[in-house]
Amino acid sequence: MANRIILNETSYHGQGAILSITEEAKLRGFKKAFVCSDPDLIKFNVTKKVTDLLDKEGLEYEIYSDIKANPTIENVQSGVAAFKKSGADYIIAIGGGSSMDTSKAIGIIITNPEFEDVRSLEGLSPTKNPCVPIFAVPTTAGTAAEVTINYVITDVEKKRKFVCVDPHDIPVVAFVDPDMMSSMPKGLTASTGMDALTHAIEGYTTKSANIITDMFNLKAIELIAKSLRGAVENTAEGREGMAIGQYLTGMGFSNCGLGIVHSMAHGLGALYDTPHGVANAIILPTVMEYNADAVGEKLRDVAKAMGVEGTENMSEAEYKKAAVDAVKKLSEDVGIPKDLKEIVKPEDVDFLSQSAMDDACRPGNPRDPKFEDIKELFLSLM
Ligand SMILES: NC(=O)c1ccc[n+]([C@@H]2O[C@H](COP(=O)([O-])OP(=O)(O)OC[C@H]3O[C@@H](n4cnc5c(N)ncnc54)[C@H](O)[C@@H]3O)[C@@H](O)[C@H]2O)c1
Ligand SMILES: [Fe+2]
Repeated sequence: MANRIILNETSYHGQGAILSITEEAKLRGFKKAFVCSDPDLIKFNVTKKVTDLLDKEGLEYEIYSDIKANPTIENVQSGVAAFKKSGADYIIAIGGGSSMDTSKAIGIIITNPEFEDVRSLEGLSPTKNPCVPIFAVPTTAGTAAEVTINYVITDVEKKRKFVCVDPHDIPVVAFVDPDMMSSMPKGLTASTGMDALTHAIEGYTTKSANIITDMFNLKAIELIAKSLRGAVENTAEGREGMAIGQYLTGMGFSNCGLGIVHSMAHGLGALYDTPHGVANAIILPTVMEYNADAVGEKLRDVAKAMGVEGTENMSEAEYKKAAVDAVKKLSEDVGIPKDLKEIVKPEDVDFLSQSAMDDACRPGNPRDPKFEDIKELFLSLM
């Protein structure tokens, strides 16, 4: 089967990338921006780094900030109403996955109003029209939502997060500027960075992985393993490495899908508001062990990319263990909890396991899990 690859039309990388926002807006003839950014980013003047540039060039904009982490259907619907009133003709998404995903859903519903219930966008969304043009400015080095064709929304009523996959939502321009990420505190840098590592490892080992996505994901593992500790210490080198590393895997996993680390993590986000990266980081090594026999030699590559030496001469058992141990060590070094004891309530395990079975990322997992397998995986972490 042929492989489909979808990437941004344009992207800017490195310090000062945001300086090109105003020029791009003018070139494209945009008149007014609908700036989507969450309340904390506004409070800590992260959003201002971009709106100051718009002010300087006299470019019109309006801010929408009714966005919470693990954004909800309501956040999207009130955003759609605000966009309609605004008279804006493009969106500037400034934030982590939550702001960018909310922007994607708003942009999609504006041009495809038959999906205004939001829920009907779950899975492969059958939309007809490209969304409102989005300029995406990530402020975390994690989700890479600026280059993916996915977004994730929380259904509070049904206590679940759902993934929407739609080439029509991809931002037209991404401005990936490590300076937008430097205000992240240590814990957030660590968890969002581990989300990126999860994308790279799940993407590299997923059923639909191919030579093109492998290239992005493997290089991303190497960069993230090399850069995350430095980024947590806020070094310029660490921030640069993470900004590009998370983007590389974004180009990879967006085109090949993920696996059950994400399926299991989505339930924790919906039920307990667990930060997405924390949930992934805790679950990742356990699922790597579960999948090990189905991915074979690929774990040798993962171990090598994680910086393990002598992988060429290792036995199968050795390189599998080396890959998992390297991930555990990185996770521990950046302060991620070891298990789900403080997060998951035993009475929720059945619900969480079923949610993971129903999740859009589950079919891509290299091993086909049964409900009982996922339940076992949860229980082993408690
Ligand atoms: N679209 C995709 O392909 C994709 C992939 C993975 C995850 N996701 C989704 O993205 C969401 C998670 O996004 P996230 O991990 O980027 O975090 P987030 O957007 O939820 O932000 C978390 C918190 O960090 C703060 N923050 C963000 N950047 C900051 C900065 N530079 N300085 C200080 N504080 C900052 C925010 O204000 C917020 O309070 C989840 O809903 C997840 O399911 C989407
Ligand atoms: Fe993720």
